[in-house]
Amino acid sequence: MERTLIILKPDCVHRRLIGRIIQRFEDKGLTIAAMKLIQITPDLAERHYAPHKGKPFYPGLIQYITSGPVVVMVVAGRNAIAIARKLMGKTFGFEAEPGTIRGDFGSSKTFNLIHGSDSPESAATEIALYFQENEILDYAPVDTPWIGRPDEV
Ligand code: RTP
Ligand code: MG
Repeated sequence: MERTLIILKPDCVHRRLIGRIIQRFEDKGLTIAAMKLIQITPDLAERHYAPHKGKPFYPGLIQYITSGPVVVMVVAGRNAIAIARKLMGKTFGFEAEPGTIRGDFGSSKTFNLIHGSDSPESAATEIALYFQENEILDYAPVDTPWIGRPDEV
């Protein structure tokens, strides 16, 4: 199963949106394989957002992501990375479509509620920053046969 790293950012936690946003992943048929509430340290934030180092928004991004508790999750399922990105919507809330998480819950450039890995390579790198392999549970929920046939074309 494909895995992606999802972070419910500090604005999501402060605004008490954790449950409603996790619900969207469950409703879509994705599986939570790992989850914890943490506060990201500056060192971890810099490793996570290393690809953005040097960009004008980078200092504000590090400040924001370290400013309060976050929920980090490994979400699993077929096409989990692309599905999660669709559920999230475009990066900036004012551009994200209604019906998406960012489109429904915000309009800010910076405070955009959620992170999701953007490729299999970044998913693998990011998951390893937050979880030991033995913290990620590999299980098939009982409704798995009804979520999608593995051989569907
Ligand atoms: P993320 O990595 O957080 O899931 O978001 P993303 O892929 O949709 O966007 P990305 O381009 O990777 O940018 C990472 C985060 O940096 C902030 N940002 N601000 N002011 C700006 O121009 C700007 N551009 C990006 C956002 O918080 C974005 O989530
Ligand atoms: Mg990104």
